Amino acid sequence: MTDARAALRRATAPDHERVDAVFGGFRLDDPTDYRAFLTAHAMALPAIEDALDAAGFAMLLDDWPQRRRGGAIAADLAALGASLPAPLPVPISLDTPAAQWGAAYVVEGSRLGGALLARSVPHGLPRGYLGAPQMPGAWRNFLEKLDKHICRPQDVAQATDAARAVFGLFEVAGRNVTRLAEHQ
Ligand code: HEM
Repeated sequence: MTDARAALRRATAPDHERVDAVFGGFRLDDPTDYRAFLTAHAMALPAIEDALDAAGFAMLLDDWPQRRRGGAIAADLAALGASLPAPLPVPISLDTPAAQWGAAYVVEGSRLGGALLARSVPHGLPRGYLGAPQMPGAWRNFLEKLDKHICRPQDVAQATDAARAVFGLFEVAGRNVTRLAEHQ
């Protein structure tokens, strides 16, 4: 495992556990729950993607524009008859390369769990987002670049702060949607 990834993975393990617990509560084989799950992700992912775009992350990772999945979530929600929710405000500034790499680590890494979750979505329901295909080697290529850019302790610290903030945004989104469902 690359050094930067190992550091980020270790530092964000409790954050991952919390989002896993929040999103594990949605039944992806139930259209209403699945729509709620996608709505929560749609409150967080496009907001982070837009912030990375605005920060110029494509200058650090040239295939970044092709990695975006905001359009896939919007298409899945439309297929389920739901509209895109308002994005949550991004709670961190992505004005340093290290912060951008930390945020991108979380959104790119989330594909790993997403691929597993896609198996729980029955045929007949859209899964453009969770099942989003990736070019072969895209994750390995991402990790190699992450490792080159995140070496100094201050970079690791900044990347970790950004990564934790992004996990936090997904957690808030998941909790918001869960709370709304409870009040219906
Ligand atoms: C029910 C929800 C989730 C489940 C069950 C889940 C599950 C997993 C699993 C099994 C892996 C490891 C896959 C592998 O090594 O091949 C993984 C990795 C990862 N997930 Fe999740 N995940 C969930 C939600 C999320 C969310 C919402 C995010 C962030 C937005 C996220 C971010 C990550 C990251 C960054 C990694 C990479 C960790 C590494 O460096 O190895 N996950 N997830």
